[in-house]
Amino acid sequence: MQSFPVRARAASCVMAMAALASAQPTPLKLLAQAHGIDIGVAVTFPAASGRAAYDSVVTRNFTGIVAENDHKWGSISSNPGVYTWTNSDRMVDFAQQHNLKLRFHAFVWHQQSSYIANGHQSGVAQPTDPNKYTRAEAFTHMRNHIGAVMQRYKTRNGGQMHVISEWDVVNEAAARDSGMFDTANVYKGLRLSTGNAVHLDSGLSRWTGYTQGETNDFDYIDSAFAIAHRNDTAARLAYNDYDAEGMGKKSNDVYSLMAKLKSRNIPVHVLGMQSHWYIGPSNTGSSGAWDPQQIAENMNRLAALGLDISITELDIRMQNPVDSAKLQQQRQAYETALGLCLAQPRCKSFYVWGVRDGQSWINSRYPGYGSPLLFSGTGTTYTPKPAYYGLISVLETTASVRRQPGAARQAPSLNYRATGPVRDLLGRRVHAAPDRPLFKAQKPAERSQAK
Ligand code: XIL
Repeated sequence: MQSFPVRARAASCVMAMAALASAQPTPLKLLAQAHGIDIGVAVTFPAASGRAAYDSVVTRNFTGIVAENDHKWGSISSNPGVYTWTNSDRMVDFAQQHNLKLRFHAFVWHQQSSYIANGHQSGVAQPTDPNKYTRAEAFTHMRNHIGAVMQRYKTRNGGQMHVISEWDVVNEAAARDSGMFDTANVYKGLRLSTGNAVHLDSGLSRWTGYTQGETNDFDYIDSAFAIAHRNDTAARLAYNDYDAEGMGKKSNDVYSLMAKLKSRNIPVHVLGMQSHWYIGPSNTGSSGAWDPQQIAENMNRLAALGLDISITELDIRMQNPVDSAKLQQQRQAYETALGLCLAQPRCKSFYVWGVRDGQSWINSRYPGYGSPLLFSGTGTTYTPKPAYYGLISVLETTASVRRQPGAARQAPSLNYRATGPVRDLLGRRVHAAPDRPLFKAQKPAERSQAK
């Protein structure tokens, strides 16, 4: 495989090249398809002048995409019932047009979530009133938001096509560090809100404020999954988190949450392992530390619960400056990650968090660290790194005994069947779950006055 820069010369030429390029999948994509594994990438579309080259790299190399930001609550909706679909639709259209799977990321999260995290009006960073919304109002917003999005995207072509392969229904509900998680109540280890002091950046969740204040049962999680399922009973629903890939406090908490959700008949089908890892020394404590044996063990216990496992946001950073030894080490790390997924029959999708190093969130999130992705380059040049070739070699040399070539894009039949009422972690009926999809075409009523 050689480097494949794409240079735009004229608009018509670009179009022709893009069409041609997308017709020529690379070995990475072909081998992924042959293994029946989805190898995807997080997408942030560049400006128009960079689109042809970017689109070509994405469509030639990957079987799926996920929006790096464009599907987050705050990217779609600034106020209750107010939706700006332009960028969100663009992502779904792109997936459909190029026959790519699409992971939808994400519904319930404590970041980038507009009014639901920050208060009644968007742009209010720190709400002074912890009850800006009542619990009932917050749950109504959740129900309406999930419904609005799922009814728009759950099928295309008159119900014939499922473009969304998985939905991240709840993202990052578990806490990593002590001091910000629940220790005493029915579910231990989830992020807490602390009344007025809802500091989203420190990892506290406003969502827990909506439940913890009244019931301590974190039933926003139960309800989010139940609502998503009722909107599309064929949808594959995921819980997604980071620093929970190996064995340890946080992954134990995530496992425990999953076990409880399953035992309560909550429709959760996929555990998403974000996998923001590093090679060499880290500047962030344990964040991003990983151990292959532990990950295999954790995958096994999650699979035993009946969950599929997806690697959802893999990137493997290194301390700057980059050198060839580090790139080789990174290649081995990527190979290990893919090998773990291929070895686990229930690991069916493997997504990296961005296309090219220079565009990665790591550069600003972890100053002094970088080069976490599969491609380097600038402008319209995308140069495959050693890690890229490493993935190909793993796919070439790993026997695929369990996955069928060309796995169907349609969601497979699910474990979950709505045989009885959906119950929360305390065994009570989930009230926020509608019996039928409760999507309403009209805007939900605005609150007349903020408290
Ligand atoms: C990151 C994006 O990559 C950035 O562009 C954005 O500024 C912040 O969010 N876990 C997640 C992702 O679930 O949504 C985050 O994405 C990375 C960590």
